[in-house]
Amino acid sequence: MYSDAIRYIGVDDVDIDLFEGQYEVPSGMSYNSYVILDDKIAVMDTVDLRKVNDYLANLKAALEDRKPDYLIVHHVEPDHASSLQRFLDVYPDVTLVGNAKTFQMLENYFHLGSTARLVVKEGEKLELGHHTLTFIMAPMVHWPEVMMSYESEEHLLFSADAFGKFGARGMDEPWDDEARRYYLNIVGKYGPQVQAVLKKAAALDIRTILPLHGPDLDETIPHVLDLYQKWSTYTPEIENGVLIAYASLHGNTAGAAERLADILDTKTDGDILLADLARVDPAEALSCAFQYRRVVFAASTYNAGVMPFMDDFLHHLKAKNWQNHVVGLIENGSWAPMAGKVMKAELEGVKNVTVVDPVVSIRGALKESDLPALEALADAILNA
Ligand SMILES: Cc1cc2nc3c(=O)[nH]c(=O)nc-3n(C[C@H](O)[C@H](O)[C@H](O)COP(=O)(O)O)c2cc1C
Ligand SMILES: [Fe+2]
Ligand SMILES: [Fe+2]
Repeated sequence: MYSDAIRYIGVDDVDIDLFEGQYEVPSGMSYNSYVILDDKIAVMDTVDLRKVNDYLANLKAALEDRKPDYLIVHHVEPDHASSLQRFLDVYPDVTLVGNAKTFQMLENYFHLGSTARLVVKEGEKLELGHHTLTFIMAPMVHWPEVMMSYESEEHLLFSADAFGKFGARGMDEPWDDEARRYYLNIVGKYGPQVQAVLKKAAALDIRTILPLHGPDLDETIPHVLDLYQKWSTYTPEIENGVLIAYASLHGNTAGAAERLADILDTKTDGDILLADLARVDPAEALSCAFQYRRVVFAASTYNAGVMPFMDDFLHHLKAKNWQNHVVGLIENGSWAPMAGKVMKAELEGVKNVTVVDPVVSIRGALKESDLPALEALADAILNA
């Protein structure tokens, strides 16, 4: 971990309904911030304005009657920077530290006026006394101005949103699932940019990662880096199981999806996961679709297209750069089934996706005569 010179002054937000206006966060969210107390005092980011009063109280307590010299802005997104004006109201003599883009983007939200600023570039250092920060640019992880800083005395990486998770710090819950859901939905599109930063980080001796959300990481760093390596290269974690994502108007397609799950269960030890796209958290479904190599999409035909929940889902996957999967398709329709064709078209242009045969086409209810096709799909998806 770290010495008493480093103080956590972040806040938990457990009354937020949706993070970034769209993500369910059943265990809340944390906005992390830290103070480094040395000859000079640096504050690492602020927090969401929703919690500014708690934050300023934490900061005041940590400062022990001293005043901060630097406020380092790793990320301008409002969950970290929207308290900046309130911070400046209390500590107007602080020097803001950011890169050229940081200051451009801060001006979108604030009038900085004559506030002192220090513009840093890749590799530049800021000496605080015993502690020294080195700045590492992380453009498009997941905003253009994002940067990290490495503190070489205690071997700390202040990693901005990277390595963050959904969930308040006070909630002691497993890291992987909520970190995956956070990463893939929020940063997932930017795998190459994350790769670039991971390469820079590999050259550093990092003992603790201090992200802007979720717990600090130490012993689990190898595990976490391994997951980030997979996620940022679009390498699915689960090879044997199958995710069956379905959208069903009247339940017949849902029944076919369940039947396929039963068949798959007899053929593999891998996990078979069913996701009703109308009812599960879309962010969780997306996260699972990245996690599983093998994914079956099953949908009703709807107005000569595909049921909107499936349409949205495929659109989202594509937008997040989803790739490297084996796909099976099931369609249902009463007079002119189109869902299979539409789903196939939506998957066009997705990198390294193999759609296996057969595309199972059901008319209304699942019948005995449909079972051989479902069996064949099960074999094809497992053996591809
Ligand atoms: C609003 C609506 C629009 C539909 N549009 C089509 C269509 O364009 N072509 C078609 O073959 N079936 C269409 N259907 C029929 C369904 O695809 C069919 O009932 C199918 O069996 C539904 O499967 P489900 O029980 O899983 O929803 C439509 C059904 C509804 C309710
Ligand atoms: Fe962010
Ligand atoms: Fe964030």
